[in-house]
Amino acid sequence: MDKKLTLPTGKEIILRKVRKDDLQKLIEMYLTLGEETLRFLRPYKFTAREVREMQERVDWKKVFSIVAENADKIVAEARLIKYSDTAAEFGVIVHDRYRNMKLGQTLVIKIMDLARKVGVKRLIGFCTLDNIIALHIYKKLGFKIEKKFDASKSLFGREKEVVRLAINL
Ligand SMILES: CC(C)(COP(=O)(O)OP(=O)(O)OC[C@H]1O[C@@H](n2cnc3c(N)ncnc32)[C@H](O)[C@@H]1OP(=O)(O)O)[C@@H](O)C(=O)NCCC(=O)NCCS
Repeated sequence: MDKKLTLPTGKEIILRKVRKDDLQKLIEMYLTLGEETLRFLRPYKFTAREVREMQERVDWKKVFSIVAENADKIVAEARLIKYSDTAAEFGVIVHDRYRNMKLGQTLVIKIMDLARKVGVKRLIGFCTLDNIIALHIYKKLGFKIEKKFDASKSLFGREKEVVRLAINL
């Protein structure tokens, strides 16, 4: 499934399935995420152990991962996690240095295609209500907000409301 693409900035990107030997590249990506990225994900940093555990969960049956690579570095990851035969959740992270170059939306489109191929009929994603860019992309691709969660119960504490978006594929 390797796919080459050229970003509007001229950067050459390869989109491909994550591989077992990507661990060091994934660790480098996750451990160097900046505040601008982390503030939409969680209020604390990733650890190498956690990244390894995340990678070990990829079995290409229930947990799927597509990465974007540039100049031998992983610069973005999108994941699909099946809850059942027909329902799944996705997540996407683009490294700070590669933001706003259409990579995020390209990966979400890839994940939607992959979800359809593996039988997913209902796909959901979560983000905080202040994540204007993620909300913009998800809505542009047809997702609708279907639930707002009580901010006091979110990872971020009281100050951030989390929403669930969904699409029927
Ligand atoms: C959300 C995320 C994946 C988007 O990736 P990206 O590669 O930067 O996004 P893209 O370049 O594909 O698209 C950005 C879009 O937001 C728009 N945008 C950028 N800044 C904006 C702003 N301040 N206000 C509104 N829209 C904005 C761009 O114009 C573009 O939309 P368009 O293609 O319709 O013109 C990335 O920002 C990220 O990793 N964020 C942190 C992790 C995260 O929030 N993950 C998702 C939720 S868990």
